[in-house]
Amino acid sequence: MSGLFIAFEGGEGVGKSTQEALLGEFLSSMGKTVVRTREPGGTPAAEAIRAIVLSREFDGMNARSEALLFAASRGDHVERVIRPALERGDIVICDRYIDSSVAYQGYARNLGAEHVRNLSLWATNNLLPDLTIVLTMNADVSLQRISNHDRLEAEPIEYHRAVTQAFLDLAQQDPERYLVIDATQSKDAIAQLINARVMQELNEK
Ligand SMILES: Nc1ncnc2c1ncn2[C@@H]1O[C@H](COP(=O)(O)OP(=O)(O)O)[C@@H](O)[C@H]1O
Ligand SMILES: [Mg+2]
Repeated sequence: MSGLFIAFEGGEGVGKSTQEALLGEFLSSMGKTVVRTREPGGTPAAEAIRAIVLSREFDGMNARSEALLFAASRGDHVERVIRPALERGDIVICDRYIDSSVAYQGYARNLGAEHVRNLSLWATNNLLPDLTIVLTMNADVSLQRISNHDRLEAEPIEYHRAVTQAFLDLAQQDPERYLVIDATQSKDAIAQLINARVMQELNEK
């Protein structure tokens, strides 16, 4: 596939959506064709699944059912949006991807990182990002940046601390495919680090 697939990962409120939008603007201004998307969601079926997994109506949902729903949503998203875009040669920027499932369901809900990862690899026919950008900061602080907490955001702080650590562990296991950034820096400083790394990826393609 000729495109470039970039995922943003990290806990709640670390600035994923902010940076995903800034990177999209930067690449578009260079004349690149960019597909910006997010998970869970990105297709009508996947957005419908998103509404279920994030709704406070379903507090206490079985953890395995939750993991299956995330994988189900991802499978549709990859098949119908991400893979076609990469085949066209576009740059795909995705706000959360497989590592979010591994961190939230695999680590923080103790379902096992390998099980959860394999489930998503099966659902997506093994599509992994070329580059994953992990924004990291103290979860106690990042949660204060957001209001109106959804079902997962409303989990106890220990859960969010486990998620934060999980992303760092995942990045450490495969350092070449990750860029880990201290998310307490200014939006502009973070964007510059991201832009530089993405330019390097494009030049190496
Ligand atoms: N580098 C930053 N410094 C301070 N505040 C930030 C920074 N990046 C984002 N924010 C603010 O934090 C809040 C959460 O950012 P957002 O991008 O929605 O995070 P996420 O998508 O990771 O949950 C927003 O109000 C945003 O403006
Ligand atoms: Mg966001």
